[in-house]
Amino acid sequence: MITLNTYLNEKNHTSPAIASAVSTIANVGVEISKLLQRGALADIHGEAGNQNVQGEEQKKLDVISNDLLLDALSANSVCAGVASEELDDATPANPNGEVLVLFDPLDGSSNIDINMSVGTIFSILPYQNQGSEVTNNDFLQTGRNQLASGYIVYGPSTMLAITFGNGVAMFSLDPASNEYVLIEEAVKISAATNEYAINASNYRHWLPPMQQYIDELIAGKDGVRGKNYNTRWVAAMVGDVHRILCRGGVFTYPFDTKDPKKPGKLRLMYEANPMALLIEQAGGLATDAVNNILDIEPTDIHQRVPVVLGSSEEVERVKALHA
Ligand code: F6P
Ligand code: MN
Repeated sequence: MITLNTYLNEKNHTSPAIASAVSTIANVGVEISKLLQRGALADIHGEAGNQNVQGEEQKKLDVISNDLLLDALSANSVCAGVASEELDDATPANPNGEVLVLFDPLDGSSNIDINMSVGTIFSILPYQNQGSEVTNNDFLQTGRNQLASGYIVYGPSTMLAITFGNGVAMFSLDPASNEYVLIEEAVKISAATNEYAINASNYRHWLPPMQQYIDELIAGKDGVRGKNYNTRWVAAMVGDVHRILCRGGVFTYPFDTKDPKKPGKLRLMYEANPMALLIEQAGGLATDAVNNILDIEPTDIHQRVPVVLGSSEEVERVKALHA
């Protein structure tokens, strides 16, 4: 039995600084997991009564999870600063820290109050300005620079997936010991799949190539793809990506014209980039339909991007239709 701490520290998978940051995030994940298990009894349901920088209503658990991560990472000397979905600007920590941590503290917030899967997503970048206090600009690095990324999915059981740029490992939290235990070390996504995830209520707002792609999947055996497909939508990206790491599939939140200020729904720095690294490291692909997600030059810590990720045959088809 290999625990996350053994994996991080004894098997030399990463540097001590990155291991320490991951360990801090994983420990907060245990706390969030316990709160979710108690649910309504822990007073975590409902609205917090304020909005985040993106104008979204914050749930109580969004705020609680954000505060837990912020406090724990700020107290860890390896961390130079953090950026979060729930914070307008980057928060400086130790100016001599080696890493920057970005996170979506509680992904899939609409699932909290209905007792369905949610998650925590994180991305770790190198801090390149050691000695001075971090600013938002320090975080504007492409996804290729990530030293580590991963998520914790709070489902019927709590699981953690992580990459250090050399494959993907998956752990399961043992609630008895509060230890994450390694269950798979070389997660691989099949190239072919017959499952796709998309919120089809936005169909009329998509660009014609995306409409055509979904039309092809719905046509099934009778259409150009020559096989039947099935839809799955968790409404928490962490849940959909977890399913794809487990059994393949394609997930997309594509460009749409609903709101001209938003070229997509998902945020590049703490949703798309960390998931893209995991997916690529498991043999899949991640694109905005044209460019590889990991090559996008960020201009804002909260910028949004269209996302198509998962089994390579499907992602290639989406790219071909958009070319
Ligand atoms: O973080 C944004 C997010 O909650 C994702 O986790 C999820 O995939 C998506 O939005 C759900 O969007 P919608 O509410 O449009 O289905
Ligand atoms: Mn999210």
